[in-house]
Amino acid sequence: MLTTNTPAWRALVEHQKATAQAHLRDLFSSDPERFSRLSFELEGMLVDFSKQRVDQRTIELLLELTKAADLEGWRARLFAGDKINVSEDRAVLHTALRYMKPGVFPSSTCNVMPEVRAVRAQMREFSEKVRGGLWRGFSGEAIRDVVNIGIGGSDLGPKTVVRALSAYQHQGLKMHFVSNVDSAHLAKLLNSLNPRSTLFIVASKTFTTQETMLNAHTAREWLCAAAGDDAPRALPLHFVAVTSATEKAQVFGLPASNVFRMWDWVGGRYSLWSAVGLPIALAIGMNGFERLLAGAQAMDNHFREAPFERNLPVLMALIGVWNTNFLGASTSAVLPYHESLRFLPSFLQQLEMESNGKTVGRDGQPLSCQANPIVWGEIGSNGQHAFFQLLHQGGWLVPCDFIASAQSDFPLPGHQAPLMANFLAQSAALAFGKTEAEARAELEAARVPADQMASLLPHKVFAGNQPSTTIILPRIVPYYLGMLLALYEHKVFVQGVIWGINSFDQWGVELGKQLAGRLLPALKGEADSEGLDQSTRALIAWIQEYGDC
Ligand code: F6P
Repeated sequence: MLTTNTPAWRALVEHQKATAQAHLRDLFSSDPERFSRLSFELEGMLVDFSKQRVDQRTIELLLELTKAADLEGWRARLFAGDKINVSEDRAVLHTALRYMKPGVFPSSTCNVMPEVRAVRAQMREFSEKVRGGLWRGFSGEAIRDVVNIGIGGSDLGPKTVVRALSAYQHQGLKMHFVSNVDSAHLAKLLNSLNPRSTLFIVASKTFTTQETMLNAHTAREWLCAAAGDDAPRALPLHFVAVTSATEKAQVFGLPASNVFRMWDWVGGRYSLWSAVGLPIALAIGMNGFERLLAGAQAMDNHFREAPFERNLPVLMALIGVWNTNFLGASTSAVLPYHESLRFLPSFLQQLEMESNGKTVGRDGQPLSCQANPIVWGEIGSNGQHAFFQLLHQGGWLVPCDFIASAQSDFPLPGHQAPLMANFLAQSAALAFGKTEAEARAELEAARVPADQMASLLPHKVFAGNQPSTTIILPRIVPYYLGMLLALYEHKVFVQGVIWGINSFDQWGVELGKQLAGRLLPALKGEADSEGLDQSTRALIAWIQEYGDC
């Protein structure tokens, strides 16, 4: 039975109708304990749901949904390593990657820990050599620049974390990330690099992704051209690979010792905890990387053990379901008030939309409700001066996640308080708005003439009632960042369970890849465009006339 047919779902529909008129202003004024009831602290991380449009009854009913969807059972299957990625017949064990205790991964039926620990040891040895200047390039120079070539999960995870933790970055190593097949991305970077002191990481689970492989081949040619006769010796000194297709990396020219293994039970968007996190280990050291894993593991333990009514990923997921399926929100915004978290919105876009952006359930049946909303976002300070107008007065329901750190990682006198003031002001303004009476009183106090009052007043009113969650980390350090990212991962998992989705496949990305494969020969003039649709044929002709394919 699908979730929407359950009494729990129907009760939520009725509850929404009964509470449709409730405004956050009323919810707060009628409950002085609202903040303490709806905010939670875990190891110093604060998550405040009090500005969400929920009351105690909403939470109780949402918790009923978890029973209807058998969340407990699915959570147990996730951690047991059952093949819950049914369409690909794979287990989902990224949580084992951050298991830091000795022995087997608790309750899992397959013992992956020896392999996981072996790769961690390989990462430690390699990153210490590179960071210590002991890994030398073909001319004997130490490595100064590291270029991660990857895309999707093989780019966004490590890039988000490396940029987030830039305060802890090794001063002698510059980290770069190349994902785009547009040559502008790689060409500009190569122009600035010295091949003698550059290390490339080719990160691709499949080692077949077109963008990554093309960039990797171009980088290899660049290196080999610089190394000249030394090219065969240079290649393994300047390239390593992270992949589950070891043999393909060997065909690329790398010895097995240069290959960091990953496994089919790690999805791309869940892979930063694996050797895909090698740029993180290089940037902040393996100890820092393991602190990141430990933070994620703390969230895993919390997700595993905390009762659902106090379980952060569960509550976050359920409130998201409420916003999407009962309040009708079609998007959700991620707004970090922290410059180092600038890639977090992109990371979460892949995590959420590639996982749950689906209309078919794991049983192959159409879903009976809308699933994931459209996730978007931007650094909050910048967004305020760009699109926040729409959030305040655009008439759309846009639930927001406001994320900040209590301390700055690059402090300058006088900056943190205004940052925090804006961070708090925006969620309050969105929640409570400004009534017509308040706006009128303000205009009167400003002695606005009566004839202008009527025309100005409508522009000065803010409807409010825009829901948001506030997350405050003590500081952006590896441990708390690990907790934050794992919080979102488990939220996505819980929502997938509620909607009846397999969150770990991504068939929706295949059609475009297939078509690109068919169009490539036509664009290069090696095949005619017969059989293609009219628009695509005409566009190919246009590009051929004006372009340089
Ligand atoms: O096309 C989507 C996707 O498969 C993502 O799921 C994945 O993270 C990305 O491409 C990169 O894949 P790979 O690591 O195999 O190159």
